[in-house]
Amino acid sequence: MSNPPARRMRRFRATESMRNLVRETRLSASDFIQPLFVVDRSDDAGPIESMPGVARHTVSQLGDVVGAIAESGVPAVLLFGVPSNKDATGRSAIEPVGIVPQAIRACRNAAKDLVIISDVCMCSYTDHGHCGVIREDRVDNDATNQRLGEIAVCHANAGADWVAPSAMMDGMVAAIRSALDDAKCEDAGILSYAVKYASSFYGPFRDAADCAPQFSDRRTYQMDPANVGEALAEAKLDLDEGADMLMVKPAMAYLDVIHRVKTAHPDVPLAAYQVSGEYSMIQAAALRGWLDEKRAVLESLTAIKRAGADMIITYWASKVAGWLRES
Ligand code: PBG
Repeated sequence: MSNPPARRMRRFRATESMRNLVRETRLSASDFIQPLFVVDRSDDAGPIESMPGVARHTVSQLGDVVGAIAESGVPAVLLFGVPSNKDATGRSAIEPVGIVPQAIRACRNAAKDLVIISDVCMCSYTDHGHCGVIREDRVDNDATNQRLGEIAVCHANAGADWVAPSAMMDGMVAAIRSALDDAKCEDAGILSYAVKYASSFYGPFRDAADCAPQFSDRRTYQMDPANVGEALAEAKLDLDEGADMLMVKPAMAYLDVIHRVKTAHPDVPLAAYQVSGEYSMIQAAALRGWLDEKRAVLESLTAIKRAGADMIITYWASKVAGWLRES
């Protein structure tokens, strides 16, 4: 007969109370950021087919939506504008009374203490769907940075606390920081989508934000999913350019990247974006009864936090906050 085991790990798992006592990673409502899609035509509002449970809102609907989010204990929202008028250079992105400035004001009126973060990119505003200005069939990096700076100032002037540039242009953080500072918006922070991969998991978002590229794809600016050393280079560059917080996106297929970036920069708050495809995969399976929604969602979020994310952008934010309050 073999010897009895010297250490019995099952002692830690014997009861729910015991498991609670030794749990290493805990989720709380304050970990989450709720993304919101805002449209300027009421015809465009309503459920998003490829993201069951997520809707697009008009500015006038936003007050109630945001009130409920703040009530749930979620401290922050991330705003995406989905305008109906688009052109080659995304001019509607810098209108002082454009969709995002209006949305920012509506959020502030509904919830005074809410952290309002705005996505700074051009893809929802351009008729070609790319994240920048096109010159000779390529995204022109430096012309795009100029525009991104203007968008950031427009959002900060409307009251955004943070801007989150997601275009993956070289030098975009430096351009935005100096534009904000020149406009006396030095208190506006930058949450940089520093490490953003060219991912198939953005599919449903492109329906939601009406921003699919009309030619080619985003692989000349978003990162190759095969690379992690490059992620560390991107993170360092953005910090050197003045980013206050960093983001890795998507989350679940990139837990190693989250871990590496957090280990390299332990003193910088790190966000992870659980993107639309991650949401829709679980939601679709749950709707068919193939997965337990609540358990799958909590497990995925716990894994992202365990990997090293300090905050998580997730379409389930306020729903999970509700679950956590019940338990
Ligand atoms: C736009 C942007 C995208 C997402 C956030 N900002 C799409 C893209 O880059 O194609 C994806 C978010 C999601 O899938 O939930 N630059």
